[in-house]
Amino acid sequence: MSATSSHSSDKVAGAPDIDDLAARARAVIPSGTSRSTLYVPPAVPMARSGRSAWLTDESGSRVLDFNNNYTSLIHGHHFEPIQRAIAEALDEGTSFGLPTRREVALAEHLRDRTGHEQWRFSNSGTEAVMQAIRCARAVTGRDLIVRFEGSYHGTSDPVTDSDRPGITCAEHETVMVLPQGSLAALQTVFGDRGDDVAAVLIDLMPNRAGLEPADPEFINAVRQLTTRHGSLMIVDEVITFRLALNGLGPSYGIAPDLATFGKVIGGGLPVGALAGRTDIMSAFDAKTGPLVAWGGTFSANPLTMAAGLAAVQAYDQPAIDDLNSRGNQLRHCLSDAGVKVNGRGSLMRIMEKVDVSDLWWALYRRGVFAGTNALLSLSTAMTHEDLNLAADAIVDAVQAVRS
Ligand SMILES: Cc1ncc(COP(=O)(O)O)c(C=O)c1O
Repeated sequence: MSATSSHSSDKVAGAPDIDDLAARARAVIPSGTSRSTLYVPPAVPMARSGRSAWLTDESGSRVLDFNNNYTSLIHGHHFEPIQRAIAEALDEGTSFGLPTRREVALAEHLRDRTGHEQWRFSNSGTEAVMQAIRCARAVTGRDLIVRFEGSYHGTSDPVTDSDRPGITCAEHETVMVLPQGSLAALQTVFGDRGDDVAAVLIDLMPNRAGLEPADPEFINAVRQLTTRHGSLMIVDEVITFRLALNGLGPSYGIAPDLATFGKVIGGGLPVGALAGRTDIMSAFDAKTGPLVAWGGTFSANPLTMAAGLAAVQAYDQPAIDDLNSRGNQLRHCLSDAGVKVNGRGSLMRIMEKVDVSDLWWALYRRGVFAGTNALLSLSTAMTHEDLNLAADAIVDAVQAVRS
C-alpha cells in the first residue's frame, strides 16, 4: 500500500452527511466540539470508529492514528485485554457510590511500578494537576506556584495563562510563569521569594513548548531549590509516563514530592491521578484532616480502573522498550529525510516552520492523523508496515507544505 492510498474515503454505510453533521454540531456545541484543543480550521473531521492503529472518520476516510487521543491510547483501538477488562467490569456495574477493589488494584500496580506511595484518581489530568496545586498550597501554607511558559497542564485556573478570558487578576497574583528552562529566572524567584513558593510545577518534556527533553542540570536545580526552601516539586507526567516504566522523573535521578498522571493509565477511558509520599498525600486523608477537598462522582470509576490496569499491565518493560525503539527509528528516519522533529521514544513532534494547520491537513490527507500541533505518538498496535507507510507520508506532507 502506498502512503497516499492509505487515506481511503469509501462512504461508510449509514454514515450521516458530513456537512450536515458539522452544521448540527455547531448549532448545539460552541465551535462544534466540547474540546477547544481540537481546533484546526475550518474544522476537524469527526471520528466514527477505530481498530488497532487505524481510525475511520465519519466520511469513511481511514487514517493511521498517530494522535491516539492525544497520546492516551497506548495500545491503539480495540485492544483485546482492555476490551475484556471493560466488559467484565461493566457486567458488575458502571459506577457505585462506594470505592471498589479495582481502584485498589490500579493504585497498587502504579505504586509498585513508580515507587509513589499513595494515589488518588480523578477523571482528567486537568483535575489531577488542580489537586496537586491545592495540595501543595495546603501542605506548605503558601500560595505561590511557579510554572513555565508554554507547558500545558490542562485548563484549571492556575495553569491557564492570565491573558485568557475568565481568569481573574487574583489568580495570577499567586502564579509566576517563568521562561521555559530558565535557570537564571528560577534562581531569581527563589532568591527574592523562595519562602513564599508552595510548589514548582514542571513537565520534563513539554509538548506545547516544543517537546524538547528538559536539561538535567535545570531539573536538578529545581529539586535543590525547592528542597532548600521547603517548597514542593510537582512533576506532571500526564504525557511522559508512557516513556518509561516509572515515568520520566526517575531517568533524571530525581524524586518529586508529587506527580500527576493521566492518559495511558486509563486504558482509553477518562482518568487522572495524583501520587506522592504518604506524609503529603495525607492532606486528603479524612482521618488526619484538615481535609483538602476532593470529590468526583465518577472519580476512580470501575470501568476506568479496569481498563487502566489492563493497559498498564500490558505495557511492561519489554513493550516500552520496543515502542520507544520504534519511535526513535521513526524519528531518525524523518530527521535523515530532512524533517525537523523533536521528542524521545514513542513521542515526537514535527517542528517545521510551516503553517501548522496546513501541515495537519497535509498529514491527514496522506493518511496520518497527528495532534493539532503535529504531535505524533506511537501505539503498540502499529506494525512495521504502518510505520514505514507513515514515514513516507510524513516526509511527503512536509515537503508539500514547505513548497
Ligand atoms: C502534560 C499535561 N498535563 C495535563 C494535561 C491535562 O490532561 P487532561 O486533558 O486529561 O485534562 C495534559 C493534556 O494533554 C497534558 O499534556
